[in-house]
Amino acid sequence: MGRLSVVALVLVVFARVGIAADARSYMETQLVLARETQVAFNADPDRGARFFRTAQGEDWSCSSCHTEDPREAGEHITTGKAIDALSPLSTPSRFTDTTKTDKWFRRNCGDVVGRECTAAEKADVIAFLLQPTR
Ligand code: HEC
Repeated sequence: MGRLSVVALVLVVFARVGIAADARSYMETQLVLARETQVAFNADPDRGARFFRTAQGEDWSCSSCHTEDPREAGEHITTGKAIDALSPLSTPSRFTDTTKTDKWFRRNCGDVVGRECTAAEKADVIAFLLQPTR
């Protein structure tokens, strides 16, 4: 591998760590909240995947708009409007603006679950979004 490729690779790796840092810090906040009621709680990407892909009481699931693979771009199920991929591995701006993240969690969980998502559910979903392969 040439010197430039090594530099490029290192930059890419650092950029990825930086991207994941925002989502991880949001997830850490949810973990602290979840442990107030479930002391031994830990985020589980598989549970997050099931939650994400399955209808939760209302007609839609998260994947109705964000697709089964959150690394892919989605589409709003009623308006058809394009939605950038939800995974921060694909869309670096994800989870960098807490106000925006909170707002959309509240709104989308209302549509899908009929209530706000719990801290535990949010932590699971983010653990799922951070998985590079799925
Ligand atoms: C009816 C369509 C729809 C459904 C269903 C839906 N979302 Fe979304 N979601 C959106 C739109 C639209 C946005 C805002 C546009 C954007 O950020 O690209 C968004 C944004 C978000 C964001 C903001 C991320 C950030 O920080 O940029 C999160 C988190 C999110 N959705 C999670 C979920 C979860 C979890 C579910 C399932 C409980 C879900 N969404 C279901 C349409 C949907």
